[in-house]
Amino acid sequence: STSFHITLLPGDGIGPEIMDVAVAVLKRVGQQMKLAFEFTSAPIGGAAIDATGTPLPESTLETCRRSDAVLLAAIGGYQWDNLPRHLRPETGLLGLRAGLGLFANLRPATILPQLAGASSLKPEIVAGVDIMVVRELTGGIYFGQPRGIFEAEDGTLRGVNSMTYSAAEVDRIGRVAFETAQKRSKRLCSVDKANVLEVSQLWRDRLNALAPDYPEVDLTHLYVDNAAMQLVRCPTQFDTIVTGNLFGDILSDIAAMLTGSIGMLPSASLGASGPGLFEPVHGSAPDIAGQDKANPLAQVLSAAMMLRYGLNQPEAAHRIEQAVLQVLDRGYRTGDILGEGTQAVGCQAMGQALIDALDSE
Ligand code: NAD
Ligand code: IPM
Ligand code: MN
Repeated sequence: STSFHITLLPGDGIGPEIMDVAVAVLKRVGQQMKLAFEFTSAPIGGAAIDATGTPLPESTLETCRRSDAVLLAAIGGYQWDNLPRHLRPETGLLGLRAGLGLFANLRPATILPQLAGASSLKPEIVAGVDIMVVRELTGGIYFGQPRGIFEAEDGTLRGVNSMTYSAAEVDRIGRVAFETAQKRSKRLCSVDKANVLEVSQLWRDRLNALAPDYPEVDLTHLYVDNAAMQLVRCPTQFDTIVTGNLFGDILSDIAAMLTGSIGMLPSASLGASGPGLFEPVHGSAPDIAGQDKANPLAQVLSAAMMLRYGLNQPEAAHRIEQAVLQVLDRGYRTGDILGEGTQAVGCQAMGQALIDALDSE
């Protein structure tokens, strides 16, 4: 049988609850498909701060580097929000992404027919939505220098971050985006703020310069403010979207709500080589943590993305995705996607329903 080393990073808040469900699902699929998974858990985020004093212990990064894939749940919480920047949970996650060289973040937003009524938009607006956001993940304003809070000579404070992209950084995410679009409906929309920002002008120029290498792909450009509006006005006009780190963060949360809940959206983060990182788009949801209320499906679908994009096991990924469709068909819903005529379940019961669905496939 094929054997894979998987690092599990449960993190904070609802993280451990949804990770338990994903691991149970992976174990069952492993048995069914004769795949051996060796799981190693490691601390990250607030849990790591409490245990070791730092949000990304060197040992966690090393464990991730040595594994075939990394499955992360979520990090963060109120109790760590006032620590100095370098000690915050979010800094640990950003360090992990940078440390593994994961510049390409794929965030698919697909409307499942079962959930069309769960979106805050009208069902006829969201029907058929199938968008892939390709977000640059290791550059832009999240990482640009200079950054900091600086004191001027007159004693006034100035907060500074820098949105920077090199041509090479744009080219490599641009190529991932063109290749992604080529495998989909061949429509690629690049989102920037080139009417105001030089960094976006370079972004747009480089995307245009790549286009001749992908003659089948239809490349268009939108300013980010218009793109945000278009996503809620008529989301079906989009197929593949490519954008920088900050705009991608914001637009992927908008895209999430088209699908009914941010609790449904998985993601894959990939580099040029080495293990990929797979995590839901949502955060640690401290407002519902520890209450068995979390929707584990984004986490479970992230495990499916891990099988497909990280471990080259598309059949096993497909089994998991089918199980998700089945539990929704059977009417099971966590609170965030509850609708008329559906049955409210908690996180754990949703996990059991997934196992039952896998067993009946
Ligand atoms: P959030 O995504 O954690 O929560 C936003 C809202 O969505 C909350 O009402 C929450 O209850 C709900 N929600 C999120 N996931 C859900 C799920 N699976 N099931 C049901 N409801 C769900 O965003 P936030 O509140 O802005 O951030 C909370 C913490 O998470 C912060 O510390 C933030 O930095 C962190 N965060 C981490 C990640 C990550 O680990 N990748 C991503 C986003 C935010
Ligand atoms: C996400 C999150 C992270 C980001 C935070 C927690 C650092 O919001 O994965 O979308 O901004 O990238
Ligand atoms: Mn985000």
